[in-house]
Amino acid sequence: MTRSQLIAPSILASDFAKLGQEVTDVLKAGADWIHIDSMDGHFVPNITFGPDVVKAIRPLTDAVFDAHLMIAPCDPYLEAFAKAGCDIITVHAEAGPHLHRSLQAIRNLGKKAGVSLNPATPENVLDYVLDDVDLILVMSVNPGFGGQSFIPQSLEKIRKIKAMIGKRPIDLEVDGGITATNIAEAAKAGANVFVAGSTIYKGGDSKTYAQRIAAMRKAAKTAA
Ligand code: DX5
Ligand code: ZN
Repeated sequence: MTRSQLIAPSILASDFAKLGQEVTDVLKAGADWIHIDSMDGHFVPNITFGPDVVKAIRPLTDAVFDAHLMIAPCDPYLEAFAKAGCDIITVHAEAGPHLHRSLQAIRNLGKKAGVSLNPATPENVLDYVLDDVDLILVMSVNPGFGGQSFIPQSLEKIRKIKAMIGKRPIDLEVDGGITATNIAEAAKAGANVFVAGSTIYKGGDSKTYAQRIAAMRKAAKTAA
């Protein structure tokens, strides 16, 4: 089954002084999901948003909120992110410390469960959880900051994971350094959800978001 290609702007790169507007502007400009990077200053060397921020922007839209938790341990926070209105909750393979339990907990909260792999994390961490996940997020930069360069080895990992997924209904998301230039390679490797922070939010003012989202979508389509 071919899964739809989706563009998920990361609000990490948005202007926090007008966060709500930034969310509605990218959606108006054609974005599919809102990617929410939550960082704890412990699992990754940066601190961003918690569940209260998600709760504040939730009434603005029905669009899918794709939460990427860079939090360890993650389990104590899953319920709060679920209640705040996240639709997909993704945890890092190392952040549990019990990955299977975390994934089960997310599904038990009625949400879609995702697992994220750091650039150095091998795909075989997925061997025994493939039937417990709805989304696999391949980090193509080291987590913690926007604006980094895409790590080319990520493509090989995306290809391998795509093969592992087979016919399962799992979205394969790539996150970090995605541009209108490299998105086609990521799509060709098998990714169908594309996170982009800097490319969308830092390429010009909000009137040009639609242009950049369209360019990304067009480039990804050529590889589908
Ligand atoms: C990094 C985050 C990414 C990041 C992507 O830890 O997971 O979502 O915001 O930003 P860009 O697109 O600027 O690499
Ligand atoms: Zn992310």
